[in-house]
Amino acid sequence: MVPTAENFDVVVVGGGPGGYAAALYGAAAGLNIALVEKDKVGGTCLHRGCIPAKALLESGHVVRTVSGAKDFGVETSDPTVDLATTMARKDRVIDTLFKGLSGLLKNRKVTVFPGTGRLGADRRVTVDLTDGGTAELEGDAVILAAGSVPRTIPGFDVGGPILTSDEVFEIGEVPKRTAVIGGGAIGCEFASMLHDLGSEVTVLEALPQILPGVDKDVVSVVLRSFKRRGIDVRTGVKVAGHNPGSSGTTVDLEGSDPLEVDAVILSVGRRPLSESLGLDGTGVVVDGRGFVEVDEHCRTAVDGVWAIGDLIATPGLAHVGYAEAILVIKQLLGEEAIPVDYDKVAWCIYCHPEVAFAGYSEQGAIDAGYEVVSSKHRWGGNSRALIVGDSEGLVKVIAEKRDDGSAGRILGVHMAGPWVTEQLGQAYLSVNWEATVEEAAHFIQPHPSLSENFGETLLSLTGRSLNG
Ligand code: NAI
Repeated sequence: MVPTAENFDVVVVGGGPGGYAAALYGAAAGLNIALVEKDKVGGTCLHRGCIPAKALLESGHVVRTVSGAKDFGVETSDPTVDLATTMARKDRVIDTLFKGLSGLLKNRKVTVFPGTGRLGADRRVTVDLTDGGTAELEGDAVILAAGSVPRTIPGFDVGGPILTSDEVFEIGEVPKRTAVIGGGAIGCEFASMLHDLGSEVTVLEALPQILPGVDKDVVSVVLRSFKRRGIDVRTGVKVAGHNPGSSGTTVDLEGSDPLEVDAVILSVGRRPLSESLGLDGTGVVVDGRGFVEVDEHCRTAVDGVWAIGDLIATPGLAHVGYAEAILVIKQLLGEEAIPVDYDKVAWCIYCHPEVAFAGYSEQGAIDAGYEVVSSKHRWGGNSRALIVGDSEGLVKVIAEKRDDGSAGRILGVHMAGPWVTEQLGQAYLSVNWEATVEEAAHFIQPHPSLSENFGETLLSLTGRSLNG
């Protein structure tokens, strides 16, 4: 006999940014929501990803600020890092956000089921409850949002000196020497953070360039800065394996000398966590890499079953998960719902110097068939950057070239430098609103401010400029 199931408007499986956003946004619209989570609501982003990474990077920022205090006429001794306090602060940030999120879910009357959810037929979800037993849930809609886990590479089993982002946030001491395998967003953030906290860092990237997808001028800024600070970045490197020693390990590199380190951090991408969802035989299609297949509205092949976040093959970013959650809930409410434009989402990488971009890189636009005009402005001429003492990097705007050779629609904005992750907002809007350089340049930037550099770059693309 089929056990009776508790009925909800929506059953959400997975309580990370995708899942909790669906629950909160849906509940705010009056839907009755069940949220199934096997660990803690908040997911990778809150507990093992974005939030702890940025909290530790901020400690690195404080180290740099104190090291440079003399330039501002402030005398201090050289900073030393008490990692236990750094980690405790990071945990407090997580805890505050976790309590806030749990409170929000409770206030909006979202029913949280602690356990692992498996999809069955007819939008039914069986939950293996963490405390034992099962719960049967049925939704008018089911949203799969089970997220992702770090990828590993053959020959590098996690344990001892081999860490992924899941383990880095729990280390008891800063490794003296660290190899970071993979120079993507996670690799560059960890490299920057561990260097600032006192480790000797080597980045090992298989491709010819770190930060794939980022404009080359921006990548050059990061590379120069990393080099100046003593972070060793090796590209086009093939990692062959490693030989553990009494404490650390020696990484074998094809065609060059082995690298002796105290810790290895694997940051070679993430893989979707679809296997625990019991999707075999449900009609939901999973591709060869484990991603749940969806259309541009996040619909799976099964009517009423949706998938969002890192579980689907869209940019693995918390804010993309939020957008997909809103997209699905709006459709459930019968409202107009505009698919996410994945080519134009905001990317923010919080290493030092920070990187932020939306839309095409110059090469990306050319590859897509556009004729382009671009302009870059360095921070060296920006008053606020000089005042805050951080003038490394640039703002680059890529625009479509009109027939008369002038710059038209803004196709992309790529930045590196001070607080660019906080400055991306207006660039993101310009790209997504499909503004021309004249339209966006018409708006006034406050003086003195870092945002003037974006304004100056736009202005110079109109053919005239003030400062550059
Ligand atoms: P990624 O895919 O961005 O970068 C992985 C890098 O590792 C690539 O450059 C790749 O060429 C390299 N690689 C792969 N195998 C290798 C090998 N055997 N040896 C050397 N290099 C190798 O993945 P990442 O940085 O791990 O990030 C995972 C996900 O998390 C991404 O989807 C990213 O969007 C997201 N994320 C975003 C952040 C942000 O926007 N601030 C921060 C952290 C993560």
